Amino acid sequence: MTFDFSGRTVVVVGGTSGINRGIAESFARAGARVAVASRSEQKVEDTVSALAILGAEAMGFAADVRDQDAIRKGFSDVEQAFGQFDVLVSGAAGNFPALANGMSANAFKSVVDIDLLGTFHVMQAAYCHLKKPGASVVNISAPQAFLPMIAQSHVCAAKAGVDMITRTLAMEWGPKGVRVNSVVPGPIEGTEGMSRLAPTPALMAQVKAGVPLRRLGTPEDVGNLCMFLASDFASYMNGTVIPVDGGWSLGGISSYAATLGDFMMKTSTEGE
Ligand code: COA
Ligand code: NAP
Repeated sequence: MTFDFSGRTVVVVGGTSGINRGIAESFARAGARVAVASRSEQKVEDTVSALAILGAEAMGFAADVRDQDAIRKGFSDVEQAFGQFDVLVSGAAGNFPALANGMSANAFKSVVDIDLLGTFHVMQAAYCHLKKPGASVVNISAPQAFLPMIAQSHVCAAKAGVDMITRTLAMEWGPKGVRVNSVVPGPIEGTEGMSRLAPTPALMAQVKAGVPLRRLGTPEDVGNLCMFLASDFASYMNGTVIPVDGGWSLGGISSYAATLGDFMMKTSTEGE
């Protein structure tokens, strides 16, 4: 099964590393014009070069999703160069494991500002550039959105909020022909997220053992779902939250989460 996004404009915010870069590369291989954005000028440049090597017309801009004016400016440049957006993927995020009593209010706020407020900034700033009817928006969520996890109160709160933005804007924008969905990656190999949340070989082995398919996912696995959601095959899908996780969130995630929780409670005096 192949997808054809030739002549389409795809924008991936947070698209310069890990899963989101994999998503950008999937669309590039399927013929799309692809724009990426993140804070680091260097990561943007590297990604644009890599997308061009895949044969895509590619561009990018450096901006922090916490700065909506910078995002607005970047989107405006993208529309000028590539036309209205057929697909928007919003995936910028930050994470670190910390007990609630082990982080400052600013630490909690930094994740909420990037993941949740950042998603709002991106979606609101993109609206005037989205093709109406026809555009598809995909927000990148996480299992923490619906599974409470020790040392993840900030991420759980933020990603639950992301999914509720998805559902609400699916209702607000649906009448204009814009579909909004969330994708929930499972444990994806070689990513910053996994290195922060499963930093030891033992924890990583526990993650793998808890996935019914007995393997970590790849950025391509997530890219495939994003392409499906952005395609005409998904033209009646709106407001959904879809895991692409090998079945991890069905139960196996719990043993890993319990081990991470024990580790954090034992090693942090704040857990007492
Ligand atoms: N435990 C507790 N608090 C932490 C922490 C940790 N492991 N790491 C950072 N913080 C706190 C900082 O101390 C700071 O709080 P303070 O001002 O009260 O001291 C606050 O979080 C913000 O940190 P800062 O480094 O200034 O934020 P930033 O905006 O530069 O970076 C982060 C945001 C913290 C989320 C950073 O980890 C990041 O940029 N992550 C992006 C990559 C990533 O997380 N990828 C995985 C995605 S799933
Ligand atoms: P990653 O490589 O760290 O990707 C995060 C991306 O967002 C980078 O391009 C980063 O680039 C950008 N970014 C971070 N903060 C930003 C900000 N304030 N403004 C603009 N861009 C910002 O992480 P990942 O592990 O692949 O995760 C990608 C997404 O998948 C996240 O939404 C995460 O929650 C979700 N997810 C990951 C996993 C996993 O297994 N890794 C599982 C479930 C869900 P800069 O540093 O240049 O800003």
